[in-house]
Amino acid sequence: LAAGPLKGIKALVTSGPTYEPIDPVRFIGNRSSGKQGHAIAAALARLGADVTLITGPVKLPDPANMRVIHVETAREMLGTALGCLPVDVAVCAAAVADWTVSNASKEKRKKDASGQPPPIELAANPDILATLSEKGSARPRLVVGFAAETEKLLEHARAKFVRKGCDWIVANDVSPHSGTFGGDFNTVHLLTQGGAEEWPRISKTDVAERLAWKIADTLKGHP
Ligand code: C5P
Repeated sequence: LAAGPLKGIKALVTSGPTYEPIDPVRFIGNRSSGKQGHAIAAALARLGADVTLITGPVKLPDPANMRVIHVETAREMLGTALGCLPVDVAVCAAAVADWTVSNASKEKRKKDASGQPPPIELAANPDILATLSEKGSARPRLVVGFAAETEKLLEHARAKFVRKGCDWIVANDVSPHSGTFGGDFNTVHLLTQGGAEEWPRISKTDVAERLAWKIADTLKGHP
């Protein structure tokens, strides 16, 4: 492992979407390129952290110098994340599907002669960020979540902050005019207990770099 300000620090990063199967060939999922999450994992590794990246299906190559675990569903992502504890810092950048298909079938569903679509029943998925934020001896020292919003960015992000119990929220504007989805740039606000910082529009790589340095400063100050 590289030397650097995060040497000796264990980090967990979730990235990409999750896919929830309807049957062996169909799924429901979220839009997520994984670019921001993968960039954060890479930035933490560059600063010397021992990184585990848990990723849903993405088109990106596995970043170097870290452990990469590929998962598909939210349940698999949660189980894998819990299996990685204890860690010092967890960054949940994955776009986890809110629902799983509770009547998923083992065989491919056939179109029926009447032309009626089959019913899809949904059940809530576990919240990985909220679970990792729960108090307890295995809670990471720092838990960071994301809030992707299309309107009322700070208001919605603040509400999420309280609901999830995490320490920081990276709030980003994903409205269509922002070009954030699938793009290389991001405009974010960092919400901490102390307030909100507005960051300029910078590349996802630079957001990752800045966040990683901020994590290093914080963890160094509180061993
Ligand atoms: O509730 P919402 O999906 O908007 O919250 C976004 C934040 O929560 C992100 O950090 C995301 O990774 C995390 N999350 C999670 N598990 C879920 C849903 C969201 O970890 N089931």
